[in-house]
Amino acid sequence: MKIAIGNDHAGTNYKVSIVTYLESLGHEVVNCGTNSNDSVDYPDFARLVSKKVNDAEVDLGILLCGTGNGVAMTANKYSKVRAGLAWSKEIAAIIKQHNNANILVIPARFTAEAQVLEMVEIYLNTDFEGGRHQRRVDKISC
Ligand code: RB5
Repeated sequence: MKIAIGNDHAGTNYKVSIVTYLESLGHEVVNCGTNSNDSVDYPDFARLVSKKVNDAEVDLGILLCGTGNGVAMTANKYSKVRAGLAWSKEIAAIIKQHNNANILVIPARFTAEAQVLEMVEIYLNTDFEGGRHQRRVDKISC
């Protein structure tokens, strides 16, 4: 898969681990995030990933910031983006099963490192269930 990833300074360290992990699985990763721990503005990076997902330039996106909320708020302004905030393996699965999330959002400052790669793996390997969830997803766009 082609996956865009973006982050602010709070997500840089986890981003590096995720990119290494995804590339080891053979995915093509487009790194749209900062590679530094110096303070930056999260919308600048969330926009880069969200536009690529919105324009179908990539299959999926991953975004990280401190709480995950800033990048999620930015991403969900794009009409074709469904960015789901996940802080557990169960939620990482459900945002795909029920919401067909095309961006996984990780709250870097509130997620244990050991859990991050598991969440990414589960998110990528979980399918949208469709059915009643399709009807609901169809009602999300404004
Ligand atoms: C940066 O300090 C922090 O505000 C940002 O990473 C994020 O949590 C915003 O939602």
